[in-house]
Amino acid sequence: MRVIGVFLLAGMAMAQAPTYEPIASTQQLMQGMIDPASKAIAEAAKDPGPADNRAWRTAMLNGIMLQESAQLIKMGTRAKDQDGWMKACQALADAGAAVQKAAAAKDVAAYQAAAGGINATCQGCHGVYRQRGGGGRKQDPPKQ
Ligand code: HEC
Repeated sequence: MRVIGVFLLAGMAMAQAPTYEPIASTQQLMQGMIDPASKAIAEAAKDPGPADNRAWRTAMLNGIMLQESAQLIKMGTRAKDQDGWMKACQALADAGAAVQKAAAAKDVAAYQAAAGGINATCQGCHGVYRQRGGGGRKQDPPKQ
């Protein structure tokens, strides 16, 4: 009886575990999350830095969004390999974490330094993994 109970519980746990269903392509995550978050972080880093509590919170949330989206581009078929791609994703996540930490502390100098470090992580991945000359990219080059 007890054994059956354990199996039943395990079965229920499995049935309840949500499966992750990817919706966005890597390109769409770039366009919809990563690029807007990084632009907003850079904008808020201009002197004198985020103006008030709300602006600091937004800056912090954008750092969090970079980390979350770095997770998303690691998943499933978005991952181009298990090595350099994962490291490039981690670099993006680390940059986002630095932004989050500085914004949580409302430390302008640390925030500006963290914001300034983001572009290198974008380019570190694009230089290796992003093919040049595709349709949307030709018409609408990213401003980084
Ligand atoms: C781990 C790799 C990786 C990182 C890190 C990364 N990107 Fe990308 N990015 C790509 C790839 C791959 C594409 C091409 C996607 C495609 O067209 O299928 C791309 C495309 C883009 C595009 C073009 C989207 C379009 O309109 O076609 C923008 C804008 C962009 N990235 C912004 C950024 C910014 C800003 C950052 C840093 C905050 C960043 N990316 C970090 C891999 C990365």
